[in-house]
Amino acid sequence: MPDIELIAIDRKTCDASADPDAVQNSIAAWFSRHKPDFVVNALAYTAVDRAESEIDLVFRINASFPQALATAAERYAAKLVHFSSDYVFDGSLSGRAYREDDRCEPKNVYGQSKRQAELAVLQASQSALVIRTSWVVGVDGQNFVKTMLRLACERPHLRVVADQWGVPSPAAFLVSQVLNALMRSSGEPIRGIYHLCPSGETNWHAYALWVIEEAARHPRWKDRLQIRSVQAIEAIASADYPTAAKRPANSRLDCSQWLQRFSPAGLPDWKLALAPSLAEILDSDHISAS
Ligand SMILES: NC(=O)c1ccc[n+]([C@@H]2O[C@H](COP(=O)([O-])OP(=O)(O)OC[C@H]3O[C@@H](n4cnc5c(N)ncnc54)[C@H](OP(=O)(O)O)[C@@H]3O)[C@@H](O)[C@H]2O)c1
Repeated sequence: MPDIELIAIDRKTCDASADPDAVQNSIAAWFSRHKPDFVVNALAYTAVDRAESEIDLVFRINASFPQALATAAERYAAKLVHFSSDYVFDGSLSGRAYREDDRCEPKNVYGQSKRQAELAVLQASQSALVIRTSWVVGVDGQNFVKTMLRLACERPHLRVVADQWGVPSPAAFLVSQVLNALMRSSGEPIRGIYHLCPSGETNWHAYALWVIEEAARHPRWKDRLQIRSVQAIEAIASADYPTAAKRPANSRLDCSQWLQRFSPAGLPDWKLALAPSLAEILDSDHISAS
């Protein structure tokens, strides 16, 4: 592990939904105080369905804030790593994963705000790295894994969408890949958009099956599950599960550019990458607190 001083910024230091002048002032004060070499922005408004009815707020947090951060990073000669999303694509591409230069046509407000941020960040900073990833899973916070585990303990039958394809990306995987990339490229300019997620692919239904099968083997979970067989997890179409925001059917990201530049040894399969985080969630019983 490289010797890095890590400074986390929370809502108290900077509320990205505040008035733009207040946001700019708090960002400027933070940069002037800490003079960071790198800034990683994983902050976002991520409630994809609610975003459809909170458009101004979503754009403020997801687009104006990253733009202000990129402007300050440029002024203070810091490198910005900004996280973007598979949702910048409409998902209609068939037969292959999306490449960085494929046409962006977001289907929902969240995706539109993430696309606006990409353009604003790259315009404001000469050294910003924009990383599009997909289906992020952390041990803390809320995510699909915890939702499936909770529902599997509450209900004997689940219906899960099977026609949206993508790749789960554990937060720990993203952290180690980004750190490694920054270390490998020290001195060299890196800029632009890269796709990053583990290898392989799945859909939400197959992903849920895997999570619940793993839980069924875990001593702490096996007796709590109401789901008794894989047949109790029904595969359904997106059309049978209407949501406020439309979602892309194809969320697969082609990571060849990342592999070539930063990770020539390859990227792990998503199950291998996710196994440690899933084990931690199962061992620590995080879902009962969420
Ligand atoms: N989740 C996915 O499937 C997915 C897929 C592709 C890309 N991404 C991108 O990956 C990044 C991380 O996503 P995530 O799922 O980890 O997000 P998350 O769990 O929703 O976390 C978002 C973070 O942003 C902070 N935040 C939100 N509004 C804020 C505000 N007004 N002021 C200050 N902080 C605020 C939250 O703070 P609190 O903890 O205080 O609420 C939280 O720490 C985002 O850029 C997202 O767009 C996510």
